[in-house]
Amino acid sequence: MLNSCMRWFLRFLVSLLAIIVHPLTYLINIKRNKKCPPPTNPLLFKSATTLAMMIRNKQITSEEVVSAYIERCKEVNPYLNAIVEPRYDMAIKEARCIDKMIASNERSNEDLAKEYPLLGIPMTVKESIAVEGMSNDCGTVFPYRMPAKKDADIVRRARAAGAIPIAVTNTPQLCMNWETYNNVSGLTMNPYDQKRTTGGSSGGEAALIASAASIIGVGSDIAGSLRLPPMFNGIFGHKPTPKLLSIEGHVPDCLDPEFDEYFALGPITRYAEDLPLLLKVLRQPTGPDVPLDKPVDLTRLKFYYMEGDGSNVTDKIGSDVKQALEKAKAYITATYNVEVKELNIANIEHMWEISVRVLFNIQHVRNIYTDPEKRDQLISVWPEVLKKMIGMSDHNFTCVAYGPIKKFFDALPKNYYKKLLKVFDGIKSEFNEALSDDAVLLFPAFPYPAHLHYRIFYKFLNCGYLTIFNALGLPATACPLGLTNKGLPVGIQIVANKCNDHLTLAVAKEFEKAFGGWTPPNKDLFNSIKTA
Ligand SMILES: *[C@@H]1O[C@H](CO)[C@@H](O)[C@H](O)[C@H]1NC(C)=O
Ligand SMILES: *[C@@H]1O[C@H](CO)[C@@H](O)[C@H](O)[C@H]1NC(C)=O
Ligand SMILES: *[C@@H]1O[C@H](CO)[C@@H](O)[C@H](O)[C@H]1NC(C)=O
Repeated sequence: MLNSCMRWFLRFLVSLLAIIVHPLTYLINIKRNKKCPPPTNPLLFKSATTLAMMIRNKQITSEEVVSAYIERCKEVNPYLNAIVEPRYDMAIKEARCIDKMIASNERSNEDLAKEYPLLGIPMTVKESIAVEGMSNDCGTVFPYRMPAKKDADIVRRARAAGAIPIAVTNTPQLCMNWETYNNVSGLTMNPYDQKRTTGGSSGGEAALIASAASIIGVGSDIAGSLRLPPMFNGIFGHKPTPKLLSIEGHVPDCLDPEFDEYFALGPITRYAEDLPLLLKVLRQPTGPDVPLDKPVDLTRLKFYYMEGDGSNVTDKIGSDVKQALEKAKAYITATYNVEVKELNIANIEHMWEISVRVLFNIQHVRNIYTDPEKRDQLISVWPEVLKKMIGMSDHNFTCVAYGPIKKFFDALPKNYYKKLLKVFDGIKSEFNEALSDDAVLLFPAFPYPAHLHYRIFYKFLNCGYLTIFNALGLPATACPLGLTNKGLPVGIQIVANKCNDHLTLAVAKEFEKAFGGWTPPNKDLFNSIKTA
């Protein structure tokens, strides 16, 4: 197991990196200081659930809604650089068709609600998820373009339910980073502060949804990508129980049949009530039996909390996240008269290492070294590493580093890995017992709110807050809990046992009611303009 020497070494390494990266990021980001304007159109403040109802009731047309969102995309994208490829003209055409169908009065409102729950609703899609005819390169430079040939499974289901994709959104190269930049579309910025990251890898989605330029979207998560960007942007994201949604149609894909035990696609939304709506539309019929419609009685739930994994490898949570967690705990205690108990899991301090090892043990994830002829083999990694060192590589650091790191982990003794897995089994069954079917766990998503661009290079060890639930395969909802004094979003993860997604979704909805959920970016800017 990672002994105290190794822990100390990892901490020492990131402290060294911090000495270089920390001051550098002030300089690099100095010119990024434009303020994304706040939304004003009242249409942009309604949930997808409400909008879909209004469209069905003919109180408003799909074209009006889609146009409002397209206008907003055009307004904010110069500040955020979140869009890889828009689909505006097609979207308007599709909206008009839907409006005609509704006007024809052939179906009752109830039938429409049942058959097309997302009828006329605009959506955005992370570029790594295929939308027919749209860019699907995941930030990798190719000499030619390879638009997606057909929709990914979840996109097909969303469109069959009446949703209209309006754009595909930015990711880090091959989704391999917790910040969002690549050499095809560049850097995506946080709507609350341009100098700061939107997180990754679903960074484009989170930036657009938080700036009210999209109402619902879909992303993917192998190491926190459906939770970190929502946390950094003050919106909702949900990593479902494994296999609830099909992962077909994602770039990068993977030959390992166990990939979908750890990797998931899922919804990102601005309003909590839209998460279950989307999950019900997107789930695959062969997936696990998650009772999304089952009513949840919060008075009968058990609540646990943890402040981290106790590994001493990750940072301890900072004051902003600590306050948010305390606020959530205090609310539960005051409202339901139950204590939020600390969850103690034996050997949890090994979980950081276990999740990193389990995720790096996944074989044949498509990466820049994947042999184009033989999918299950890698080409030599060292030429690309050398090219990167002399500044000649087309690929970003994290993608280049994946090769040597994977080789390093593959070379470690197998006996040792087996020992780790044994410890992991114990941890899994303790979580299973504690959470059962009637408990949720409040857990930080990251120790701090969004940091300046590129600071991930000394904060990456904190991925342990996120990867733990990929390794354990537990559903987790990213839930915003307001803004910090500096005006940055802060939130936590709400976790439950497998197939208990309905519990985390219900608690997220409750916290939204209690703490206001999403807050528009730069709202004060707007108020000062109005009063000036
Ligand atoms: C991509 O890389 C090339 C060469 O390194 C550079 O000239 C170009 O500006 C980069 N583009 C983006 C969008 O970062
Ligand atoms: C973490 O640090 C604390 C205090 O220094 C120490 O008591 C504890 O044993 C450490 N935990 C691990 C897993 O090394
Ligand atoms: C990502 O890679 C491209 C190509 O090497 C480069 O132009 C760009 O600056 C890189 N971005 C970062 C932040 O490393």
